[in-house]
Amino acid sequence: MLSEQTKARFDREIAKYPADQRVSAVMACLSIVQQEQGWVSPESEKAIADHIGMPAIAVHEVTTFYNMYNQKPVGQFKINVCTNLPCQLRDGQKALKHLCDKLGVEDGGTTADGLFTVQHCECLGACADAPVALVNDRQMVSFMSPERLDEMVEALKAQAK
Ligand code: FES
Repeated sequence: MLSEQTKARFDREIAKYPADQRVSAVMACLSIVQQEQGWVSPESEKAIADHIGMPAIAVHEVTTFYNMYNQKPVGQFKINVCTNLPCQLRDGQKALKHLCDKLGVEDGGTTADGLFTVQHCECLGACADAPVALVNDRQMVSFMSPERLDEMVEALKAQAK
């Protein structure tokens, strides 16, 4: 199920480690699959396991340990809102609720049009900027007041494919 191009990307990551530690590339391989397919399916985990040479359950353990890996399909824009304690003290939970209410989804849900997935997440390492969120695992957004969240949603809608 892996394309030759995907396997070549895996091999570039595997080459960064000593031959007897190729399993260390598992996180990079999971990221590649998620980037290409939007989520990590059990079939993808198996394909990664076979390619790297490790048990599929060990790949699954990595997928399920980090909440950045999507274990089911998500919207075009996945917005992770930090609700760990420092953010809780500065409206992180309110930011999550505002976003969920605005988009009409529960925490972890995806809008009917498939545009947005909203979910809480662990510390993003930017506690001083709370409330903070991460868009599609790459773009940090800080000081997310309700107004800034509204602006962000509109800006993302304008970018939608
Ligand atoms: Fe939210 Fe650290 S607790 S970024």
